[in-house]
Amino acid sequence: MTLYSRITGTGSYLPPRRVSNDELAQELAGRGVETSNEWIVERTGIHARHFAAEGVTSSDLALEACRHALEAAGRSAAEVDLIIVATSTPDMVFPSSAAILQHKLGIAGCPAFDVQAVCSGFVYALTVADAMVRTGSAKCALVVGAEVFSRILDFNDRTTCVLFGDGAGAVVLEASDTPGILASDLHADGAHVGILCVPGHVSGGEVLGTPLLHMDGQAVFKLAVRVLEEAARATLAKAGKTEADIDWLIPHQANIRIMQGTAKKLKLAPEKLVVTVHEHGNTSAASIPLALDAAVRGGQVRTGDTVMLEGVGGGFTWGAVLLNL
Ligand SMILES: CC(C)(COP(=O)(O)OP(=O)(O)OC[C@H]1O[C@@H](n2cnc3c(N)ncnc32)[C@H](O)[C@@H]1OP(=O)(O)O)[C@@H](O)C(=O)NCCC(=O)NCCS
Repeated sequence: MTLYSRITGTGSYLPPRRVSNDELAQELAGRGVETSNEWIVERTGIHARHFAAEGVTSSDLALEACRHALEAAGRSAAEVDLIIVATSTPDMVFPSSAAILQHKLGIAGCPAFDVQAVCSGFVYALTVADAMVRTGSAKCALVVGAEVFSRILDFNDRTTCVLFGDGAGAVVLEASDTPGILASDLHADGAHVGILCVPGHVSGGEVLGTPLLHMDGQAVFKLAVRVLEEAARATLAKAGKTEADIDWLIPHQANIRIMQGTAKKLKLAPEKLVVTVHEHGNTSAASIPLALDAAVRGGQVRTGDTVMLEGVGGGFTWGAVLLNL
């Protein structure tokens, strides 16, 4: 009997257009918005982000990430029997980006749905997929984080538009006799909806309210540092492990100061922190699988390593997944 789910392949994709802080600052200056490479690097650790070309959607980015993940797992799309896409920037109001992605992969029939937990979306999606694999509903799942956050940025608001980027990451999660995913811990508290949101909604053929990202950066910062430590500790306790068992910490890539603060609270050596925020910016639900894939392909994270994934974001939502790769 299969008791576990395990990641058998990772993949990611960044749209080709890389925008450095200096290039962004120059573009923003044209709108009368003042920022600098120095400010962005010092406060966030971000040096560049990628922006998708006009017309490119989350499912387009997801498709490329899935192709790479399937290739790494040695699987074909025809073997996939579950697709979960974590995104806050779906192609359409409906159907789901997962259904659109399924068609682009050239397959049909298996369940496909989106998970909306903003920057915690990937750990939510991975936890749902793990449960479905362990109960026998799926044997070979694609779990994806894909975002075109550039579409919901207010480029007149320097406190937010310098932080985010576009991209996608994916894993193939398969039924296994040996443990891959060890434990997870998910949470939400809707009382904090106002500190990070895109309040616009569609009504009667119009968008009511602003369809652009709004954030209270300092409130988010404080909450994030607290809940990321709590989620990591709760997940370790569920798995019967301690901080010393963690080989790699892959937190949501939002801000280097939040990430380093979390690693410090968990008493992890700085070398155990996987960092891609400098090159990717904050890609929301895509950030964790993008960072995981970069670390795997870069030879940092290897088969057998114990990895802590951690997400935090709008909702407020947060959570962690501990796994053996
Ligand atoms: C957004 C964030 C980087 C701002 O950093 P901060 O140290 O809190 O900075 P503040 O908001 O206090 O702003 C400090 C000053 O910099 C200015 N500033 C803000 N954005 C700027 C920018 N892009 N360029 C230059 N100056 C900027 C502010 O206007 C403010 O100026 P003032 O002192 O004259 O009023 C930080 O709060 C943060 O990272 N928060 C968490 C965000 C996050 O991770 N969100 C995603 C979670 S999923």
